Amino acid sequence: MLGRNIGVDLGTASVIIYMEGRGIVLTEPSVVAYNTKTGRMCAVGKKAYDMLGRNPDSIRVIRPMKDGVVSDFTATRQMLSRFIAKVCRNAIFKPNIIVCMPSSVTNLERRTILDMITAAGAGKACLMEEPLAAAIGAGSDLMHAKGSMVVDIGGGTTDIAVITMGSIAVSKSVKVAGNLMDEAIVRQVRREKDVVIGERTAEEIKKQIGCAVLPEAELALTVKGKRYISGMPATVEVTSTDCYLAMREYIETIGEAVRGVLEITPPELVGDIGSSGIVLTGGGALLREMANAIQNKTGIKTRLATDPVNCVAKGIGLALGDLDMLAEQGYIFKTREEITGYVEN
Ligand SMILES: Nc1ncnc2c1ncn2[C@@H]1O[C@H](COP(=O)(O)OP(=O)(O)OP(=O)(O)O)[C@@H](O)[C@H]1O
Ligand SMILES: [Mg+2]
Repeated sequence: MLGRNIGVDLGTASVIIYMEGRGIVLTEPSVVAYNTKTGRMCAVGKKAYDMLGRNPDSIRVIRPMKDGVVSDFTATRQMLSRFIAKVCRNAIFKPNIIVCMPSSVTNLERRTILDMITAAGAGKACLMEEPLAAAIGAGSDLMHAKGSMVVDIGGGTTDIAVITMGSIAVSKSVKVAGNLMDEAIVRQVRREKDVVIGERTAEEIKKQIGCAVLPEAELALTVKGKRYISGMPATVEVTSTDCYLAMREYIETIGEAVRGVLEITPPELVGDIGSSGIVLTGGGALLREMANAIQNKTGIKTRLATDPVNCVAKGIGLALGDLDMLAEQGYIFKTREEITGYVEN
């Protein structure tokens, strides 16, 4: 039935919803704004994001997801209810929803997310590991008995996984991704130039001139902030080298984590990855030269997936197209009663 199955990529930076038969129907920042006097939600998604850093005291703007996991359940549920209602406007039945989460979440977190998603409007819900969906969305032939490696660099987490025969053989999730890089740029500009900039400005710097290796051609961007000491408005020029130096430590950590996963991967699978290469997905993978940085660290050919930001959502979409295969792999939709009943057992 058209539109009855939907996939949700519940990310730290953004929520992307895929609807069967329609494709990607929603992309919104994972941000919620509350009126502090009434305690009621007053904006969600893009509208709330625009308030970040500019909100008055009467409005509290929060990111309910942190480090790839739900840090504020009520806010996440309210945000998801709003998004689900938006995409299922005329639906008579509640949709079945597959949600993606980082591969390292605990069993308790899984149950809580499932419970939350059914409370947010799903008829039945099922969870899928983010790197698995990313690999499907990146076009890997999963059912093949050959290993492939996908590295999904998001806002809060980097998920690294080796996939064979439709499931994850080895995986690791590190809490180092785009957001920490933004914070590092804020610190670097304050330290080196005595100017305080906001995180949104830092993210813009990263996207426009950031580079994952020492840049050969120097780029520069002039941004606005305030003097650290006097608090007065200031404009400052930031170069791609400044940006690289700020982020270097984190790029190194991601590279080390990829190596760490390869070290514990069985030799046959490492051999496969050596010939098929590593695929990068997620918004963080769009950082200039990121594939080169990983390739230099591992010596394995690394490429950026097509449309990396949407790989996870597209992957869930493709999986939704073959529900029998999903059930065979153990991805079974459950109702709220089945989920909460399971908790009590
Ligand atoms: N062109 C770009 N260059 C560098 N970084 C980028 C670019 N575009 C987006 N990003 C970064 O990608 C990150 C968001 O990626 P994505 O949407 O995949 O995250 P997410 O799925 O919400 O997070 P997570 O998977 O960690 O929960 C942000 O940190 C953002 O700054
Ligand atoms: Mg993600």
